[in-house]
This record gives sequence, structure tokens and C-alpha cells, in this order.
Amino acid sequence: MSETARIILDGKEYELPVIEGSEGEKAIDISKLRATTGYITLDSGFKNTGSTKSSITFLDGEQGILRYRGYPIEQLAENASFLEVAYLLIYSELPNQQQLDWFTNSITMHTLVHEDMRRFFEAFPNNAHPMGILSSMISSLSTYYPESQNPNRPFKDIELTIHRLIAKIPTLAAQAYKNNLGHPIMYPKNELSYTENFLYMMFGLPSSDYEVDPVIDDALNKLLILHADHEQNCSASTVRIVGSSQANLYSSISAGIAALWGPLHGGANQAVIEMLETIKNDGGDLTKWVDKAKDKTDSFRLMGFGHRVYKNFDPRAKIIKKAADDVLDKLGIDDPVLDIAKQLEEVALKDEYFVERGLYPNVDFYSGIIYRALGIPTEMFTVMFAIGRLPGWIAQWKEMTENGEPIGRPRQIYTGANNRDYVSVEKR
Ligand code: MLT
Repeated sequence: MSETARIILDGKEYELPVIEGSEGEKAIDISKLRATTGYITLDSGFKNTGSTKSSITFLDGEQGILRYRGYPIEQLAENASFLEVAYLLIYSELPNQQQLDWFTNSITMHTLVHEDMRRFFEAFPNNAHPMGILSSMISSLSTYYPESQNPNRPFKDIELTIHRLIAKIPTLAAQAYKNNLGHPIMYPKNELSYTENFLYMMFGLPSSDYEVDPVIDDALNKLLILHADHEQNCSASTVRIVGSSQANLYSSISAGIAALWGPLHGGANQAVIEMLETIKNDGGDLTKWVDKAKDKTDSFRLMGFGHRVYKNFDPRAKIIKKAADDVLDKLGIDDPVLDIAKQLEEVALKDEYFVERGLYPNVDFYSGIIYRALGIPTEMFTVMFAIGRLPGWIAQWKEMTENGEPIGRPRQIYTGANNRDYVSVEKR
């Protein structure tokens, strides 16, 4: 007999169905609660509320588990390419060689961006934040491919949009960076891999050959894989709810980029480096800043520590920490900001205050360090997060669309003024 939950409201007992997921997670299905009881539930931030049933990503915050379509991210980060993982998230299975070749070739053939879009870049101020540029440019792609705006489009059109998005986001990101520098853009080279192409478009120059360092390329591949999806996080939920109105995929992804920009979400990796630079510029007295972080009367908080879902450790951080150590060793980087980061990491891993509060270094702490070591400018860190998260957003949007989920429309509890009559301005 299936499990149920009983609640008593106004002296009347109601039974609600309980559902169980493939990993034993349980939920009370309240989809008929208002119709049967007149009550709704309230859960600000949805921390106790499931928005959907999904087969894309499983995470266990207590055990520090993260799997994409059942595959542990530790194995994917070690063995797979980012495009393999993108295919897995979007098509549900790891590709065989023929499928991977087809997917890779399709992505490669769509890396160029319409030349007319160069004018968009020229219109942005040269200090424009690249996340603002990226969100605008991704939404603008829907105007160059108007067929994507048809909510009843056949899957082959959706698939073409999916491939265009994955292909063009590195090109747009690199062009935003070059535009901010006032440097000439570098056009994609089809003979390069996805990650090599991005590094080439970012750091290549017309006047010289740019050789991709395999250690940097490997670190970037791991970083993108580890950011590829994270179930119903803020930006994925944004992509889903925008897509639930049948808005086109470009616009839904643009909204996800906007949500990711926030310092409480994807902007945290930029905030980590800005915090470290503040400590360095203040003389590097770590004890002073750690004490400020502990002082409840002080507004200063350490960025890049702890996680709203992972209670003990972020499995992604463990993998990125090793990649960061490899990159720093290989490149022999001497950077006082990164020295402070290593000292702060040591404090956080040993100081009881941080340990008992689960304030361990998270994925944003180490990704900020590694992006800096790779030479990626601070304002581009969240762009890197967006490039990695794109396949996850696409998979979430595709699942929501294919499952025919309804438009997202939460209810509320009204706490404002009760009914009252209009009073003319003379009488107020
Ligand atoms: C993410 O990867 O999206 C972040 O860790 C935030 C989250 O999952 O809430």
C-alpha cells in the first residue's frame, strides 16, 4: 500500500499521497491541497519544496554526492570531455563514438556568430560587465533565429537551437572579453577542441601563435564538467519557470544567466577573489579578517565557504582543489592573492568556528583561484560558470518541455491592507 501523509485542518483529517524517488527521497504531493482543503503551503525560498520530478542530476547534501544521469561527477571529471557530459545531460545517455562525433561536428559547425552582432559589442560601454553582455547577446540570438520563437516547433528545430547555444556561448564570451580589452576578436578554429577553442579565442592574438597548455585545457575541461548541472538551483529554476511560459530557449537561458550573475549564486566566485584582494590590499592580516567574519556585529562575511545544500563538503570542491594545486604547481604561479587563499583555506579547514558551522571551502572558492591562475579576468569568472552550466540549463528546460509541465505560477499569502475606499487627495 502506498504511503500517505495525514493532516488535520479545521478539525477535518485529510490524506495526501507520498511519492518516493529512485534514490529514496520522499515528498508529500500537495498538487491537490488547495482544491481539497482551501489551504496552500508557504516555503520562502522553496528550501523544503520540490518544484518537479527530474531524472537529470542527483545530489545528496549530507553525503556529498553529485551524479549526472547516475554517473558520479568524480568519474566524469576524470575520464570524460565536457561535450561528452553535455551530451549525457541533454540526451540522457553517454554518447558512443558515432554520436559523439556527430554532436562535436554539429557544435563545431555553429561556433560563428552573425557578423551584425559585432555592432552590439561596439554599443556596450568598454567597462560593461561580461555577464550583462552575455545575457543580452544570448537573448538576441532569438532574433537572428526567429523560428526558435515558435512554441510548437519540431524537435529538430529545438535541437538546432541547443547546438547553436552550446557552440556560440564560448564565442560570445570571448568576444565580450576582447571587446572590453579593445583587442581584435579571434575567430573560432574548427580544428581545436571545445575548450581549446575557447582558450584560443580568449588569449590568442592575430600577431602570434597561441599554444594551448594541456594542463590549463585539462583544468578548464574539469571546471566546466563540475559546473554543468546542479538540479534545481536558482538559475536552473529560473530557466524552467521562464520556459514554462513557452518562451523560447534563448530567452530562457538568458534569464538563467541573469539569475546566475547574483553574488549569492554564480557571482560568488568573483566575490571570492574580490574578498581576497581586499584582504591583500589591507596588508594581508588574515587573523583580523577571520575575526571580522566571526564577529556577528561586523557585516563582513567570508565568500566561498559553506553551501546551502552540502552540509559537510562540496564534492566538486575536492576535485577542483586538486586541479588548482596542479595548475599552480605546473605554472609556478607566484600570486599574493592566491597565497592568502591557501592560508584562508588552512584556517577554514582547522578552525572549530568554521568546522562546526560547515564553512568549508566550496566550489566557488577554488574555481575563483583556478580561473585567476589560468589568467581569466575576475569579471569573467561567472561567465565561465555560465558556459559550464549551459548544458544543465538546456537539459532542465528540455525535460520540463517534454514532460508538458504547466506554467509556473506560485500562490501567496496576502498580508496587505484590507478592503478600503478611495479618498480624494484633498482629504488625505
Ligand atoms: C550551483 O552549482 O548551482 C550552486 O552550488 C548553487 C546551488 O546549487 O544552489
